[in-house]
Amino acid sequence: MVKINSRMSEKRRDILNDARVRESMHPLLMRLEQSTISVSHMQYAFLEILRTHQSDSGFWDSRLKFCSDKEEDYIFWREDFGGKDITVSLLYLEPGEVHPPHHHNNVISVQSVVSGQIWAREYQRIKCMDADNILISPVRDRLLKKNDEIVAHEWLNNVHWFAAPKDEPAVIWNCNVRGFETNLFLHPAPNSLGRILLDPHVKVINGCLLAQKLTVEEGYEKFGNKPIANWPIPDEVIWMDKI
Ligand SMILES: [Fe+2]
Repeated sequence: MVKINSRMSEKRRDILNDARVRESMHPLLMRLEQSTISVSHMQYAFLEILRTHQSDSGFWDSRLKFCSDKEEDYIFWREDFGGKDITVSLLYLEPGEVHPPHHHNNVISVQSVVSGQIWAREYQRIKCMDADNILISPVRDRLLKKNDEIVAHEWLNNVHWFAAPKDEPAVIWNCNVRGFETNLFLHPAPNSLGRILLDPHVKVINGCLLAQKLTVEEGYEKFGNKPIANWPIPDEVIWMDKI
């Protein structure tokens, strides 16, 4: 059975399991809100904070063990700021589990593998045709190992697709900051800040891929539990570093 691991637009309740995570990250979020730091400054500061928490084995190991033993996610901190929110968590992926191709409206994300390995494919959004159709270009298609990262925001690599290998579970540190950006890619901008599932390979137009919105059910039906390699990038597609 395909596990649906996309939380969509449902209301998320506040959770504070680890005040030290909030204390270390909240000031940076407020500086972003006040435009005194850039999105990428915050993202790389968050990665530094992750490394600090990881290096404290008395703190870190029990959280990671929770994920591995229970085979579920662990949430350090989630807080709603009224139309904006942050979630900092560990995502557990069972062997072969796929997070199907998707993009985000107004989401800044930082992810880093903390256990196991992840196959990840990332694309850049090139052009918004309409709310359901976008042009994208592939950026990277690679195996991520421990401490490798996926960093995305509204204007950087905001389409991704990732999966754990068939024979081993994986855990990813996942930070999602939603609703804080003001210059948005999608027109008209959707009301939801949830994932938007995509078929990224509908057809090739001028060296780009036409990607089309799918329902959650369609996305998981088509891509759930299947290796990303089943969808090779067509030869005529131009990769981002060649544009
Ligand atoms: Fe995502």
